[in-house]
Amino acid sequence: MGVARFSLFKIASSHLHRMHHPSALRQMSFASGLQNSTIFRSQGLIGGQWVAAHDGIWNFFRFNPSTGEIIADVPFMGRRETNDAISSAYQAFNSWSKLTAAERSKYLRKWYDLIMSHKEELGQLITLEQGKPLKEALGEVSYGASFIEFFAEEAKQVYGDIIPATLADRRLFVLKQPVGVVGAITPWNFPLAMITRKVGPALACGCTVVVKPSELTPLTALAAAELALQAGIPPGVLNVVMGNASDIGDALLASPQVRKITFTGSTAVGKKLMAGAAGTVKRISLELGGNAPCIVFDDADLDVAVKGAIAAKFRNSGQTCVCANRVIVQEGIYEKFAEAFSKAVQNLQVGDGFTEGVAQGPLINEAAVQKVESFLQDALSKGAKVILGGKRHSLGMTFYEPTVVTDVKSDMLLAREEVFGPVAPLLRFKTEEEAICIANDTNAGLAAYIFTNNVQRTWRVSEALEYGLVGVNEGIISTEVAPFGGVKQSGLGREGSKYGIDEYLELKYVCLGDMNRK
Ligand code: SIN
Repeated sequence: MGVARFSLFKIASSHLHRMHHPSALRQMSFASGLQNSTIFRSQGLIGGQWVAAHDGIWNFFRFNPSTGEIIADVPFMGRRETNDAISSAYQAFNSWSKLTAAERSKYLRKWYDLIMSHKEELGQLITLEQGKPLKEALGEVSYGASFIEFFAEEAKQVYGDIIPATLADRRLFVLKQPVGVVGAITPWNFPLAMITRKVGPALACGCTVVVKPSELTPLTALAAAELALQAGIPPGVLNVVMGNASDIGDALLASPQVRKITFTGSTAVGKKLMAGAAGTVKRISLELGGNAPCIVFDDADLDVAVKGAIAAKFRNSGQTCVCANRVIVQEGIYEKFAEAFSKAVQNLQVGDGFTEGVAQGPLINEAAVQKVESFLQDALSKGAKVILGGKRHSLGMTFYEPTVVTDVKSDMLLAREEVFGPVAPLLRFKTEEEAICIANDTNAGLAAYIFTNNVQRTWRVSEALEYGLVGVNEGIISTEVAPFGGVKQSGLGREGSKYGIDEYLELKYVCLGDMNRK
């Protein structure tokens, strides 16, 4: 079972008193339920086997960010285990890539069905290790599963081409073939969906994968991998290693057998991976940080703008790459918007993700809170004003009050970099040109949002924004059927949609000559 060393819900002595709290007791029942669940795994997956680290090191404790309690310990893996996983994936590629698309599609469909039939347990696991409210976690399970379902269908749509020949005795073909072994490095903010968005298309077209989930949230990844095994996906097709992030990353980069790296995470790490991939000239897809503008024009519907801006800003407590990072409001509606927005933000209930009605969970760790604090300090020292929140929440741990800041200027850290927390900075603008200028004044280019009722403006501004995704009068726009990805330093390539599978395919040109030619 791979649970021998699993110690679910060990309680740090300083948190013992929490066990009498109803939400802690509720968590404990979720936790013990999960421990006995058929999807719970705490070892790495290599070649279809659940394995420990070579050197036997386990003490890699995973904490519940909401309570600080230890929820599991998992092996601390590095280069050796990664190389083993690469070898397994390389071997499995030989047979997996030769299956028919329809055969691979059936495996993926089965995996999708299993994920959906374990939706509750997976959602609880996400809340337990990542902290997001259970409702949001369940939403992530459906979102994550949708990539497997979508690419189960796309597997059968990988058409090649016949090119009209330039000489009468030749025939020219283009074949689409899987790139090979893929190294997928995924973040903690979507412990399931960022894995399925990569693994779905990779497996669909015949690639095999070594996943390195975030060291902060490996349990959801392992549960998803267990379900892949239960779906009958053959050994070695999907492998999971976790532990020493830089050793694992280096091993993936160094191996000539790994033909592609796909990564979601920080821009800084993305740049390192891009440089590292040069050594073996690997394909690379990067989904990196954003600095999303959310532009509210005078002609916007106030209620729609408030609702949309809240959804875009406070999803996962502000911890997504597409979260609105700068709310840029036209001067005619600025005061009205600031008032209505902060009133609505005030209603967001902060608390443990298992508590009914909670909309804002904890931040992932102490470093995340300190980042929020330093950004806010920088803004306040330069003249910004907090009109709501602005400090750690009385619940302690890494809970932070949903915060609204006005009088934010473009030179403040809050406007220049991704805060990745529940802080909404409000900037003011006069004209459409100025709004576009402020919005584009960043190295990032992932998501942008605009709120307006003017159709011509919708088109003008959408086209002028240097971003990969634009939401118009909508705060949540991600879906498996649309291409997700950024421009500028927000990344390379697209995930999801019919375009997402191209990232895992090579084009091969075949020129067929006439053998009987005299
Ligand atoms: C991310 O934050 O990286 C992903 C967000 C999404 O898929 O909507």
